[in-house]
Amino acid sequence: NHILTEDGFVDQDSLKYPFEERGLQFGDGIYEVIRVYKGKYYLIDEHVERLYRSAAAIKINVPYKKEVIYERLEELLKKNAVDEDAKVYLQITRGSAPRDHAFPNETKANLYAYVKDLPRPTSFMRDGVTAITHDDVRWDWCYIKSLNLLPNVLAKQEAKEKGSYEAILHKNGEVTECSSSNVYYVRNGKVYTHPAKKNILHGCVRMRVEAFCDKENIEFIEDPFRVEDLSSADELFLSSSTSEVMPILKVDGQVIGDGKPGPLTRKIQKCYEEDAN
Ligand code: PDD
Repeated sequence: NHILTEDGFVDQDSLKYPFEERGLQFGDGIYEVIRVYKGKYYLIDEHVERLYRSAAAIKINVPYKKEVIYERLEELLKKNAVDEDAKVYLQITRGSAPRDHAFPNETKANLYAYVKDLPRPTSFMRDGVTAITHDDVRWDWCYIKSLNLLPNVLAKQEAKEKGSYEAILHKNGEVTECSSSNVYYVRNGKVYTHPAKKNILHGCVRMRVEAFCDKENIEFIEDPFRVEDLSSADELFLSSSTSEVMPILKVDGQVIGDGKPGPLTRKIQKCYEEDAN
């Protein structure tokens, strides 16, 4: 397995980190998960832009210029002979230094990216999934795709333990997003989702969902909905690079709409299908 690092490509087994690495000790870093379909990137520009935005927000210099990142990411697929559906995980940490909360004057950022096969979640997309609700106990800057994912990890774990696919996060009842996806409420043919403020991740697929609604003349309303609104939803769905567009049929055991994937969700899924292929 060829891994991209800040110094070029290395073999997976030769990748070693010092014990005082800020990514490990402080979660001091950022990441991206990029979708690959049949050996080609999907929404690469959106991901690269967000990568640089996240890095700038926490004062990390991405070790490569934008043009070079594109080249290296293409090389990553070539070197690993990827021609199927996959995902690329890329992370950048502030680097290694004696442990101190404040940044050292100069550190060399550590970057690594690897590619892994990932078939599309076709049966979940077709049949729908269930979710739980969970307190959003994260910080206020979730637009930064930071490595600090403990609240997300614990929320997803609780969903898993309850036999659900995702955790819908809310702050005092106001739904923000899910543990690793964005979420949408459908009522009377309109789509509602939390505005792209600092307290949610601005999903790359979310941007496409907005564009699909535009194309299909569906009103896309950036207005937060509440946990108690869920019972009146006609449809509910989530989106992410790995989950694509997925119907949610039950929340905390309560059936949404008529308990089947709805027509609007199907329309958005169809748009995604056309866009990604
Ligand atoms: N997660 N919200 C959160 C909190 C996320 O972690 C993600 C993505 C999304 C959707 O973003 P996008 O459409 O750009 O994939 C929303 C990735 C897949 C992950 O952490 O594995």
